[in-house]
Amino acid sequence: MKRSIRDLVNIEGKKILLRADFNLPMNKVGRFTDTTRLVNELPTIRFLVERGAKVIICSHLGRPKGFDFRLSLWPISLMLMKYFPGKVQFAHKVVGDEVKLQVDSLSNGSILLLENVRFYKEETENDPNFAKQLASLADIYVNDAFGVAHRKHASTYGVARLLPNAIGFLVENEINIITNALENPKSPFVAIFGGAKVEDKIDAILNILKTADSVLIGGAMAYSFMMARGQTIGRSFSSMESVKTAEEILNQAQAAGKKLLLPVDHVAYDYADKKQRTFVTETLSGEMVGSDIGPKTIKMFEKEIDEAKQVIWNGPLGKYEDDKFKKGTFEIAKAIGHSNAYSIVGGGDSVSAVKQARCLNLINHVSTGGGATLKLLEGAELPGIEVIQEKYI
Ligand code: ADP
Ligand code: 3PG
Ligand code: MG
Repeated sequence: MKRSIRDLVNIEGKKILLRADFNLPMNKVGRFTDTTRLVNELPTIRFLVERGAKVIICSHLGRPKGFDFRLSLWPISLMLMKYFPGKVQFAHKVVGDEVKLQVDSLSNGSILLLENVRFYKEETENDPNFAKQLASLADIYVNDAFGVAHRKHASTYGVARLLPNAIGFLVENEINIITNALENPKSPFVAIFGGAKVEDKIDAILNILKTADSVLIGGAMAYSFMMARGQTIGRSFSSMESVKTAEEILNQAQAAGKKLLLPVDHVAYDYADKKQRTFVTETLSGEMVGSDIGPKTIKMFEKEIDEAKQVIWNGPLGKYEDDKFKKGTFEIAKAIGHSNAYSIVGGGDSVSAVKQARCLNLINHVSTGGGATLKLLEGAELPGIEVIQEKYI
């Protein structure tokens, strides 16, 4: 078990470098569309502030190439000020003498938010010198950036090796909930996978097949499974590689005697139809492009969810961004929300779909991670967590 901030003693006056994930989703004009990641970080910040630590927060936002004012963390500091009035300062840089002066001027229980750490290319390169500079700002390092824990960057990995360290409440919560659901599942355990590419999710599906009672497949990846089963898919999204991957998963599911359900009908349109008029069909052929699961499939999946005690869902079941193809994803979100099963949803698009279906607070655990959640579902190690010391050393 990793050392948590609860295990830190006498932190009054100590400088704590807290790596958070304030990479909030943004729309085209640069407005934040969801603040869950920030709100979920507040308990850790509050804990440190209340104990009189000097909290230096470091985060990335987007994937900038050098300085980019549109990806500055300044607006995040304004949001933090609302929660911690009079306690928040902003540093226009991440490392260097100016930042050190700001750190030195911090009073106990106050916060300094550093600028976007990805404005420095040394961050993603996990540059040892940059990690050293980061480490020189603080006495203790705390990683609470679950969403980016699968990256071996200077602020998630390099710096952790140079300071006494611990994980924060958000990371602790994510790891406990997801690993517990995988290792001690409540049965029947139903896993639902969708999204675009089966190759991205093969390891997660294979790992979940070990403990799940049934796996439901929807979204674009379903067509590769259908191909692998010898069904036609018309002009729906697929590739040679993904069919091979799907075949491997089908074989493993069969060998393990697990139920793997594919869609039995689809909402499709004709590729040649400029108006993209939709229709429901049980078979896909010719120019048909499957883009959502159909009503029979929704019913079939709902029945599985209704009987489940635990549901894990990753990946939309159709092209949900398009109103014509959102029904399958939204109905399944509602079914999961209203079921008695313990529910976990992960993946950027899946969480966004659940939110649009207005079911977010009906889900037991909404993961703040995308790639990191998938890695955890794969049973893989996350470098940002592995690097943190164990509790009893
Ligand atoms: P998550 O972010 O939840 O892990 P993914 O990124 O794997 O999910 O997949 C989401 C994408 O998959 C969405 O952009 C969605 O439009 C696409 N998608 C799902 N089903 C289909 C489909 N039938 N045809 C085309 N795209 C699809
Ligand atoms: C995310 O949004 O998934 C995390 O913040 C990680 O971002 P990244 O994929 O740009 O590393
Ligand atoms: Mg996605």
